[in-house]
Amino acid sequence: MARKIILDSDPGHDDAVAILLAAGNPNIDLLAVTTVGGNQSLDKVTYNARAVLEKAHRTDIPVYAGCDRPLVRPQEVAASIHGQTGLDGVELPVPTRPLEDMHAVNFIVKTIMENEPGTITLVPTGPLTNIAMAVRMEPRIVERVKEVVLMGGGYHVGNWSAVAEFNIKVDPEAAHVVFNEPWPVTMVGLDLTHQALCTPAVQKRIEGVGTDLAQFVSGLMDFFRKTYQDNQDFVDPPVHDPCTVAYLIDPTVMTTRRCPVDVELTGTLTTGMTVADLRGPEPSAEQCHTQVAVKLDFDKFWDLVTDAIERIG
Ligand code: BDR
Ligand code: CA
Repeated sequence: MARKIILDSDPGHDDAVAILLAAGNPNIDLLAVTTVGGNQSLDKVTYNARAVLEKAHRTDIPVYAGCDRPLVRPQEVAASIHGQTGLDGVELPVPTRPLEDMHAVNFIVKTIMENEPGTITLVPTGPLTNIAMAVRMEPRIVERVKEVVLMGGGYHVGNWSAVAEFNIKVDPEAAHVVFNEPWPVTMVGLDLTHQALCTPAVQKRIEGVGTDLAQFVSGLMDFFRKTYQDNQDFVDPPVHDPCTVAYLIDPTVMTTRRCPVDVELTGTLTTGMTVADLRGPEPSAEQCHTQVAVKLDFDKFWDLVTDAIERIG
């Protein structure tokens, strides 16, 4: 049975690849893409989500717009990485499916409450604002969700400060809510996603699929490579967000380590840091509801991404 997921995202070059992986893999049932202000303004990332689904010929998948700013702090976007549109570097098709009327937070709550407990997985790949709002609006979703597999944080590395990752740093209060609810949380952080590099060989392989979509993904990667070279001192861009979806398709794509994780809210230098307690023996799932992603199977990961692009056609 395909895993039912809600992808809560802020596309974003790597969010776009996460959408394509979810849309193109038969083991994933992508119920909806919900959007959150993050890499760019809510309006821009929502348009991008609709355009990416259009590009993937998946106008059967609805898009719901969510929160346009963090819970407490002023909004901070990542134009230095994703450009002025949030998806600079490619031409987007005009979306034909209208945006849904319902707010993303209402959709998330409604879907979880109406489905059998343990059947819906939340996959946030942007700031955690919508998910935190949903929990506060309807706390019973916590015991009904199967699991939360999120891209964000890092236990040894930051990118938006010395110790904090973008998705967590821009809305740390929301992240604090999400990590402190007792649902199973897998943090797919920078320690893992910095292994998901789109090398020239990987990009060539994607181009080799030979479709318009493959060319589109390659265009995304060209822009992403340039901004990562200019701003983060990388040679190849780390394609963070699809690692979450890949884990749900095939958990052997990465190793994980169970450990308590909390989010720093009051540090003078460390706000938004995901503090993972890796001391001592690894706790059991009964003892600890959070785990962090550690080691990526690079080939398996890119096989899944390439395969999804191929299937979409
Ligand atoms: C995360 O921040 C965003 O720029 C990316 O889309 C990814 O979700 C990486 O820190
Ligand atoms: Ca993202």
